[in-house]
Amino acid sequence: MSAGLIAKPVIARRSGALSGTVRIPGDKSISHRALMLGGLAAGRTRIAGLLEGEDVINTARAMRALGATVREEGGTWIVDGLGNGALLEPEAPLDFGNAGTGCRLTMGLIGAYDFTTTFVGDASLSKRPMGRVLDPLRQMGVQVASAEGDRLPVTLRGPKTANPVSYRVPMASAQVKSAVLLAGLNAPGITTVIEPVMTRDHTERMLEAFSANLAVETGAEGERIIRLEGQGRLTGRDIDVPGDPSSAAFPLVAALLVPGSDIILLNVLMNATRTGLIVTLQEMGARIDVLNARIAGGEDVADLRVRSSELKGITVPEDRAPSMIDEYPVLAVAAAFAEGRTVMSGLQELRIKESDRLSAVAAGLKLNGVDCEAAPAALVVHGRPGGKGLGNAAAAVATHLDHRIAMSFLVMGLASEHPVTVDDATMIATSFPGFMELMTGLGAAIE
Ligand code: S3P
Repeated sequence: MSAGLIAKPVIARRSGALSGTVRIPGDKSISHRALMLGGLAAGRTRIAGLLEGEDVINTARAMRALGATVREEGGTWIVDGLGNGALLEPEAPLDFGNAGTGCRLTMGLIGAYDFTTTFVGDASLSKRPMGRVLDPLRQMGVQVASAEGDRLPVTLRGPKTANPVSYRVPMASAQVKSAVLLAGLNAPGITTVIEPVMTRDHTERMLEAFSANLAVETGAEGERIIRLEGQGRLTGRDIDVPGDPSSAAFPLVAALLVPGSDIILLNVLMNATRTGLIVTLQEMGARIDVLNARIAGGEDVADLRVRSSELKGITVPEDRAPSMIDEYPVLAVAAAFAEGRTVMSGLQELRIKESDRLSAVAAGLKLNGVDCEAAPAALVVHGRPGGKGLGNAAAAVATHLDHRIAMSFLVMGLASEHPVTVDDATMIATSFPGFMELMTGLGAAIE
């Protein structure tokens, strides 16, 4: 992993109207899962539109190390899988770089195998808690050795036969849900995951598409109950990865903020577990038109027309957090230009993303002249329509190896009176390769 070794400061300046039509790179969550299930399933999986960002490339490498054949041919990724239960012991530690999803889901995927695997990652990933995945794996009989606080490096050794568990996910986390389901593929009998709050459901959808025996029902208190039969056959299939709404969020907010902008974002995933930002921005007065809504590869997809808008601050419902968890940094930037106050709560999970995003956002906003208050799990932003006085020609935002902090503040600079600088843009390549070119192509002044 070269990213992060040499910091690359980048500056964004007030820009003229953004215009143009762009295609957003593939969804990161779906890309990771497609490689994993493709590598596990019997037969061939062809993946079109895979996100070729560093996070996903690390998952591709891990799947190769586990015995799958993974190659790219003319823009399509071809995975020849081994068959459920047939992954091989890797010869070296698996390095997931910056990627929490790649690391935690793979812990589930192979944790229950009767062999030893070591997981490592970069400085950001090595600070993040892994206990949330290791706890259910321990219940399944997996032996765990980890650094203090259940952090990386982690070494797992599965039992001869894993216990199928019934696990209630204690926090809103699709990664934890997914890790338990993937581990359940290798346990006899039924593994049950109970999800009090629904999170992104790509794992469930994709397991079904690969012919796993899976059933989802709603319990008496509204919780989701997912039952998966272990040790069944998975069959390879073709996957079309739609554009990542979490990446679309950056040009989208940029177009809302820069006066006179009118852009179209093509082929954006519109799965309801991922569209919280769009709903919130529309409530704030954003002009976002959903065009050509359609189903592609089992997911809702649409094109979005976005025009510059006068935004108003709102209170974002707390229960919306799981459907926009990665979008709060860029929403906070949008809120900095809205009239009045925007209140965001239920943000405890933001503290343990690629960085402590709540602190990083609040610090970056303050550095650039925005009035805001951070609480342990909430953020209040007082907006300044027109961006008058915002920006800072002298100091750079600390991005803490976090791609979304870097992109959010570059968006801020496009509409602020003064420039906004981020201390390091290299991590953007983990999730949004081509971000700079795409943004400058729309007319953004980023250098
Ligand atoms: C993801 C789940 C979310 C999200 C992450 C991707 C996934 O993490 O923040 O970017 O693909 O399952 P949590 O499960 O920690 O909420």
